[in-house]
Amino acid sequence: MRCIIWWAVLLLAAASLVGVRADRLPSSALPLRDLDRFALVPIDSLAGGGGDGDGGSSVDFPCQTYSATSKSCEELNGSGSFNTTCVISSSSSLDGDLCVYSTGSVEIQSHVKIICPVRGCYITFNVSGSIRIGEHVEIIAGSVGLDAANVSLGLHSTINTTALAGEPPPQTSGTPHSLEGAGGGHGGRGASCKVSNDTNWGGDVYAWSTLDSPWSYGSMGGSMLADQFGGYGGGRIMLRASEFLYVDGQVLAEGGVGSLKGGGGSGGSIIIHAFKLYGNGTISAAGGNGWGGGGGGRISLDCYSIQQDLEITVHGGQSFGCAQNAGAAGTIYDSSLQTLKVTGQIRLLSKSSICFGLSENPISEFELVAEELLMSDAVIKVYGAFRMYVKVLLMWDSKIQIDGGAKDVVLSSMLEARNLVVLRHGSVISSNADLGVYGQGRLNLSGPGDGIKARRLFLSLFYNIEVGPGSLVQAPLNEAVQSSLDALSRCNSKTCPSELITPPDDCHVNSSLSYTLQVRIIYYDVIFF
Ligand SMILES: *[C@@H]1O[C@H](CO)[C@@H](O)[C@H](O)[C@H]1NC(C)=O
Ligand SMILES: *[C@@H]1O[C@H](CO)[C@@H](O)[C@H](O)[C@H]1NC(C)=O
Ligand SMILES: *[C@@H]1O[C@H](CO)[C@@H](O)[C@H](O)[C@H]1NC(C)=O
Ligand SMILES: *[C@@H]1O[C@H](CO)[C@@H](O)[C@H](O)[C@H]1NC(C)=O
Ligand SMILES: *[C@@H]1O[C@H](CO)[C@@H](O)[C@H](O)[C@H]1NC(C)=O
Ligand SMILES: *[C@@H]1O[C@H](CO)[C@@H](O)[C@H](O)[C@H]1NC(C)=O
Ligand SMILES: *[C@@H]1O[C@H](CO)[C@@H](O)[C@H](O)[C@H]1NC(C)=O
Ligand SMILES: *[C@@H]1O[C@H](CO)[C@@H](O)[C@H](O)[C@H]1NC(C)=O
Ligand SMILES: *[C@@H]1O[C@H](CO)[C@@H](O)[C@H](O)[C@H]1NC(C)=O
Repeated sequence: MRCIIWWAVLLLAAASLVGVRADRLPSSALPLRDLDRFALVPIDSLAGGGGDGDGGSSVDFPCQTYSATSKSCEELNGSGSFNTTCVISSSSSLDGDLCVYSTGSVEIQSHVKIICPVRGCYITFNVSGSIRIGEHVEIIAGSVGLDAANVSLGLHSTINTTALAGEPPPQTSGTPHSLEGAGGGHGGRGASCKVSNDTNWGGDVYAWSTLDSPWSYGSMGGSMLADQFGGYGGGRIMLRASEFLYVDGQVLAEGGVGSLKGGGGSGGSIIIHAFKLYGNGTISAAGGNGWGGGGGGRISLDCYSIQQDLEITVHGGQSFGCAQNAGAAGTIYDSSLQTLKVTGQIRLLSKSSICFGLSENPISEFELVAEELLMSDAVIKVYGAFRMYVKVLLMWDSKIQIDGGAKDVVLSSMLEARNLVVLRHGSVISSNADLGVYGQGRLNLSGPGDGIKARRLFLSLFYNIEVGPGSLVQAPLNEAVQSSLDALSRCNSKTCPSELITPPDDCHVNSSLSYTLQVRIIYYDVIFF
């Protein structure tokens, strides 16, 4: 069988590394059936365990009980009471956390400012009614939580935690220690303008385990001198509405701006949880500008529907010292993935397929670069070597089949999915040649029929690998998956694959012999169910 030939290299977006600006929401929506398919179940119980350097995973508002209400409506110069409706019509400057838990509603009138300009300070309104924030209102603190049935942020209002981060999680290396004015890291790495050791990165990435519920502060930019000239990290924001969330203002957890003597801070964390999210505002956890730009922070969205006019960004900060090298973009995790807000998404749905190369002559290399690749009941077939770079790969009832073997050339393929790989409902990635699958986040084979199979398989760098019941990670292949490449052709050349430990004398290997598969996991957990 011969497929349509795709000679072209699919280059849909310059992914990840240099300051990608996450663009507006794409306008088309997936058909409903597919919405369900891509609805991922977040797993938070797994997150904390491996812990070191990866930050706190649980959401730790200090005011978690109703008894924690720290100020009455009158003390905020409001009229009414929190257990009915409290209308706040004048500004307050706070010197400590503000926690409000009530069964009523809160309205903050236009032009009012509620400010706690202390790094790490909390402002939390958790009510069962609604929270209405008027036009031009400013709420400024290190962590801000709003939780109600309906939450609305009026035009030109801001919730601003920019540069007001408390301490980032212990043992994170987000703040660069050298005196090079590099940017801080968090969701993406900070930039450095000094190219040493062949790297021009500043502060490191952390908090991978909390992709779906990020709750870490951003970190500070490095300095050129012993004094601190770097920007501070971005704070944290959680907005929850069991019904409607309107964002016509700005929701900011950006990294602080550095200077000509210091790097930008990295962006902080934003969690948005709503039944319906509307508005034409901005949600940003971008990195701060500086001598080296700060990395972007992390945003997670868990909404049944999202209107398209919101701007959601996690881009890295610009570098004053080296304009061509910005901080790296952070992460946006959409737990439902029904709408996506990044450039260059590829969706293959309902029996669609992409085919690269010629079956008789699988010697070429093909490249696919995109932010996200979503496959539902679809096939990607590659004759030759395949190099894929995406942030997110989601497969439902789909196949990626790589035929990497000609008579005497063996091509290895490399799939890199930085944030997340999820295979569901009988999805298989297979290669009859060498296959490397790399990532920094999660790899999840959810259940029966899901598998990754190759003649030689390298899985590495993942933070967390889950192989669910009935899923299979296999190397080498059994006969059923054989195709144009036969392991014999290698053996005839008297060069044994280097991964084989104590091969038989003739180097004739077949699936009835025992073999050793090396799985090198650099980071934390491997969970086999
Ligand atoms: C409202 O709260 C105040 C204390 O904050 C309490 O004294 C009052 O009884 C409450 N009213 C109702 C109707 O629950
Ligand atoms: C309430 O208003 C008064 C006068 O307008 C002001 O002095 C006071 O600081 C305000 N209270 C708070 C908590 O800001
Ligand atoms: C939330 O807003 C919707 C639409 O404006 C309204 O129908 C609903 O009653 C509101 N819920 C609460 C608890 O105020
Ligand atoms: C609001 O209160 C509820 C119940 O205590 C809690 O589960 C939730 O996490 C709180 N939300 C925020 C943003 O603190
Ligand atoms: C948010 O806060 C930062 C740091 O204080 C400030 O530079 C920025 O102008 C603020 N943004 C808005 C929209 O108010
Ligand atoms: C990186 O460079 C610094 C000095 O610039 C040096 O001390 C360090 O050993 C180098 N690290 C590596 C891994 O080469
Ligand atoms: C944003 O939306 C509001 C209504 O939600 C509308 O009044 C306003 O004009 C819009 N602003 C822009 C710039 O489109
Ligand atoms: C990962 O797989 C397990 C089953 O093995 C499933 O329970 C879990 O929800 C999956 N996680 C995601 C993020 O899909
Ligand atoms: C597999 O290899 C062993 C040892 O070379 C040989 O004895 C056996 O017959 C082979 N099995 C198959 C199915 O080729």
